[in-house]
Amino acid sequence: MKMKTIKVGLGTCGVSAGGDKTYDAIKKEIAKQKIKVNLKETGCNGMCYREPLVEIIDERNHSFLYGDVTPEKAARIISEHIAGGTPVREWVIKNSQPSEDDSFLAKQKKIVLRNCGIIDPTSLDEYIAADGYKAIQKVLSEYTPEKVIEIISNSGLRGRGGGGFLTGLKWKFCRQAPGDKKYIICNADEGDPGAFMDRSTLESDPHSVLEGMMICAYAIGADEGVIYVRAEYPKAVKRLKDSIENLIAKGYLGRNIFNSKMNFTIKIKEGAGAFVCGEETALIASIEGKRGMPRFRPPFPANSGLWGKPTNINNVETFANLPWIILNGAEAFASMGTNDSKGTKVFALAGKIARGGLAEVPMGITINEIVFDIGGGITENKKFKAVQMGGPSGGCIPASMGDLQIDYQQINKTGAIMGSGGLVVMDETTCMVEMAKFFLTFTQEESCGKCTFCRIGTKRMLEVLTRITEGAGAEGDIDLLQKLAYEIKNNTICGLGQTAPNPVLTTLKYFPEEYEAHIRDKKCPAHSCSALLTYAILSDKCKGCTLCAKACPSEAITGEKKKPHALDPALCVKCGKCFETCKFGAVERN
Ligand SMILES: Cc1cc2nc3c(=O)[nH]c(=O)nc-3n(C[C@H](O)[C@H](O)[C@H](O)COP(=O)(O)O)c2cc1C
Repeated sequence: MKMKTIKVGLGTCGVSAGGDKTYDAIKKEIAKQKIKVNLKETGCNGMCYREPLVEIIDERNHSFLYGDVTPEKAARIISEHIAGGTPVREWVIKNSQPSEDDSFLAKQKKIVLRNCGIIDPTSLDEYIAADGYKAIQKVLSEYTPEKVIEIISNSGLRGRGGGGFLTGLKWKFCRQAPGDKKYIICNADEGDPGAFMDRSTLESDPHSVLEGMMICAYAIGADEGVIYVRAEYPKAVKRLKDSIENLIAKGYLGRNIFNSKMNFTIKIKEGAGAFVCGEETALIASIEGKRGMPRFRPPFPANSGLWGKPTNINNVETFANLPWIILNGAEAFASMGTNDSKGTKVFALAGKIARGGLAEVPMGITINEIVFDIGGGITENKKFKAVQMGGPSGGCIPASMGDLQIDYQQINKTGAIMGSGGLVVMDETTCMVEMAKFFLTFTQEESCGKCTFCRIGTKRMLEVLTRITEGAGAEGDIDLLQKLAYEIKNNTICGLGQTAPNPVLTTLKYFPEEYEAHIRDKKCPAHSCSALLTYAILSDKCKGCTLCAKACPSEAITGEKKKPHALDPALCVKCGKCFETCKFGAVERN
């Protein structure tokens, strides 16, 4: 009889939720009860909000997915389900019974994430069993490089790293560039705050990216590939290193791969986690051992890239799409999405959303569908205010535009950008000025300093935003922000500076009244900027329970037990502890 299988999600999200402890508890319990079972790890299936996740596949191949599995819960699952054969129904979040978590998956279409959370990412055999390395073998045996480029062009695939450039066209430029020695680079720098798509893909299914690189290398005529991955992603780095070693051992990398004439090797370059190193020319400089600073283009990397040779750079997600396109055909890919943007896109859902995680959706889905149907809406029943897309290079789209269909063109029209897929959801408690300040703080720190407009311009913008959030904003600040924003956009050489003002410009466009309230009324409508808040105790509601006085760190609250208390504004440090502590609604915040 077939053995039961237990899979534990051990991507970074799983481990940070305690997945490794759950794994150990399962291992111990199996040993204690002397049960024969197939225990293995997987990566992330996208449901980060339910980690640690444990899937049990029984002898009849029925799958039961358990969520929020603590070591204590694991012991009961082993006893009752594995040993006893009866699932612990109340903890199962996905099987044949309909559940609330089903709507997380209902509108998704998994191409990039096809194997994530399903196969063991450390096992080459499992990837092969899931049709892995069939696409590269098909390409090598049936297609010319030109035909591969034609297929990818016909699929309509656009680069998923942010710019959305047509992948087939970029490959064509590189293939046609003079010179025999060519390189391909996988950009796994993923620097956007709130983005974790590439990390998760590399941790959960590294071979799909490696196979994608092989397909691209064949099409372009490259014999060397480099993966530029940030060292802050140790699990992704390890998975890649181990997978490359396994491929070499099997003869899938090196000389005459898959008994063809193609030679191909892949190296890993760990980056130090500088955002600007995601920009392709800075990335190339970094691989070459120079300071990671962008340079003027042209020449484009397709003509003169790594070590001066023609180089093609693609993002992790772009590569992971390729094996699927080859095996399923360009038409199948192009049949999903909109006229402008084909296929699917992976989004990292973060912020004030009930179900945070990774969702792969067909292009053309609306923002509301992602936030409400997939993400389960806003936490604590708060009001949906905006989504921030495209990280620091992107911008804010207000909830009033929730019916907007997501594709490159539609998102660009709003002033935001699709970016690499970070989607941060904001509710009524998010101050849009503070949010713009957060992203600008990031870009200002990450500016390499080469362009004066980027180096100093972002600093000046940040100073203005800081004084607005501190209640020292002045008339004319909005004009000044706009002037600086356009100067920076128009006068810097790389995408970092050209897009850095976007969060400020989009919040000014969609939430001008919030800026005005900060500047003119010295008020923060979202009650978020602490310097602009005032607290007072409403004596008719105060019961004199003393909790607020005990919570106050600056002894600003005084009063006798069972008598209304008073708050001295001169001593108040505006920490909000009294507001949070009061059970009677007696602390007023303005
Ligand atoms: C400041 C900056 C940071 C970037 N960071 C990344 C990144 O982390 N990952 C990525 O794939 N592309 C990033 N890009 C875009 C890349 O430069 C490049 O366009 C992309 O890797 C091309 O691959 P694609 O065509 O598959 O999208 C960044 C661009 C800029 C200007």
